[in-house]
Amino acid sequence: MTRAWRGAILSVSHDPALDPAAVRHEADGLLVVEDGIVVARGPFADLAERFADVPVERLDGLIVPGFVDCHVHYPQMDSMAAHGEQLLDWLERHIFPAERAFADPAHARAVAGVFCDELLRNGTTSALVFPTVHAHSVDALFEAAMARAMRLVGGKVLMDWGPPGLCDTVETARAETEALIAKWRGRGRLGYAITPRFALTSSDDQLAMAGDLLARHRDVLLHTHLSENTRECAQVRARFTDARDYLDVYDRFGLVGARSVFAHGIHLSGHECARLAESGAGIAVCPSSNLFLGSGMFDFTQAAEFGVRLGLGSDVGAGTTFSLLHTAGLAYQAGLARGHRLDPFRALWLATAAGAALLHVEDRVGALGEGQEADFVLLDPAATPLLARRTRGAALAETLFALQVLGDDRAVSRTYVMGRCAWDRDTARFHPFSEPGP
Ligand code: GUN
Ligand code: ZN
Repeated sequence: MTRAWRGAILSVSHDPALDPAAVRHEADGLLVVEDGIVVARGPFADLAERFADVPVERLDGLIVPGFVDCHVHYPQMDSMAAHGEQLLDWLERHIFPAERAFADPAHARAVAGVFCDELLRNGTTSALVFPTVHAHSVDALFEAAMARAMRLVGGKVLMDWGPPGLCDTVETARAETEALIAKWRGRGRLGYAITPRFALTSSDDQLAMAGDLLARHRDVLLHTHLSENTRECAQVRARFTDARDYLDVYDRFGLVGARSVFAHGIHLSGHECARLAESGAGIAVCPSSNLFLGSGMFDFTQAAEFGVRLGLGSDVGAGTTFSLLHTAGLAYQAGLARGHRLDPFRALWLATAAGAALLHVEDRVGALGEGQEADFVLLDPAATPLLARRTRGAALAETLFALQVLGDDRAVSRTYVMGRCAWDRDTARFHPFSEPGP
């Protein structure tokens, strides 16, 4: 089935700071989709004749690629806005109790469904997700993602040194991870990530086992936390006395490579940045979380100097918003506090194609290019009275920046997954992939 949408289309396929031609914009564009794949995109005037037989729907607003959230915890969505603590105390007081409740598979299934809907409501169509230590929490997530045809990556959390009630062992972690990879490999649009929680909740033997799994499964990612909070960093230094730095702890266990995604990276040395760049590993930058937990602010200038690969993450539940649009606006503010001016087109790239590259799916999603999967979002520059005033008559860069700073889920009027409308703000309806959509 072939369908087309006419409207303003914007995407950023690679880093516009290195190549301004990365920005692709059609003020009056046509996006032609066949069986969920983009078959043509360009100015309406150029394509109209070729696709004269295809039904065209006009979309008012700005069409951008679906957002790619490079770091988010689905079991923490009901723990957002927990008052009072920084990372380690916040984990003990708020997060570990919430994650213990996922021992119940029915609870995991219920939360996973609401979580996927919340991603869609915010325009996020792909994500790298932390479940819990329970293997069935991965099943719940993947089942919810498949029902919505979403492109999600995740894996059972490894934490043999976790708190009571949330521990696995080296052996159970290996066996459950192997079983989950075998069960879910090649299904839907899903991917697997070996997921040690962070250095402090795994024994040396478990980190070594994670490295072994990563080496033996070339199609999976590595997903963990790195250098987020000063107290966490001090505890890592105290435990791993012969490691050169935090990243080196992971490196010694074979966990640093092009398939590795590390959340945060707030307190990185030059040596760590150089090693990240050399290995091709990426950082998921999570500004709303870093502000909320008082962790600090990401140093975009240092990352650019070394050529560290980046994406954006919401890090819900430390993060305060599911919206990667709003996260882009917060990335600007966090960057400016450390002397960096994040350009709005570069911020859009970080929220889309750059994230897709960290997840190794940049050939599939992130830029709305011909041959890519048709995951896209219709943004409404007049979503609120304030946005309407601020964007009236504004140039594209100004409109995009206003959407990032002032916008959030309210500015997502529709989310499309594989060319089908999955969320429609104006009717407040989700459309499951199994049912005929609008
Ligand atoms: N470090 C280890 N676990 C977590 C977590 O759940 N959230 C955040 N923000 N950092 C972590
Ligand atoms: Zn996190």
